[in-house]
Amino acid sequence: MSSPAAPERPTEIVLEPMTATHLADVLALGGRVYDTTVKPYTSWSLSAIARHMDGEASACWVALAGDRLAGYVLGSMGFDQRSDWGNLEWIASAPEYQGQGIAGRLVKACCATLTEAGASAVVTDVESRNTASAALMRSNGFEASVSVTLFVRDTPR
Ligand SMILES: CC(C)(COP(=O)(O)OP(=O)(O)OC[C@H]1O[C@@H](n2cnc3c(N)ncnc32)[C@H](O)[C@@H]1OP(=O)(O)O)[C@@H](O)C(=O)NCCC(=O)NCCS
Repeated sequence: MSSPAAPERPTEIVLEPMTATHLADVLALGGRVYDTTVKPYTSWSLSAIARHMDGEASACWVALAGDRLAGYVLGSMGFDQRSDWGNLEWIASAPEYQGQGIAGRLVKACCATLTEAGASAVVTDVESRNTASAALMRSNGFEASVSVTLFVRDTPR
């Protein structure tokens, strides 16, 4: 009689600095999780990714489950005119990997890199309806600060 197959162990999630080899997967995952037809996600693009990777003190990390991309974070030094602030701009976990603490690990890795690079603060913006992202940031030491509301005037036909 053959013995029952051992239950499959979940693949360990490993964090690594993002490199050019991850670009296509990062672009595709962002395309899955952001609604690029609505603000503020309309600027999701290869150049949005490249700007952080090329930026001073890149703080871009990927979370890998074997060779599958489970999540990523994109950050770099500088926020508008403040060169001493770090900017954590984009983060995502693949839907099938959400709720496992991956984004929390990515936020910590990104903030640690920016702090090491001399950031006096790390700034991120959260769309008002994105409760998951707000919870993620709050549980990692971010506090709500200034709010900016996008006012839109539709052009009458
Ligand atoms: C927001 C997002 C990155 C969270 O990823 P995740 O890997 O599931 O998050 P984690 O498992 O690391 O959870 C981190 C914290 O956020 C909380 N959280 C995550 N998703 C939540 C949800 N849907 N509702 C409430 N809280 C949530 C967790 O409870 C956890 O809190 P804790 O540390 O106090 O336990 C993920 O939902 C996502 O990719 N969303 C789509 C992309 C997006 O909106 N990105 C942000 C804008 S750039």
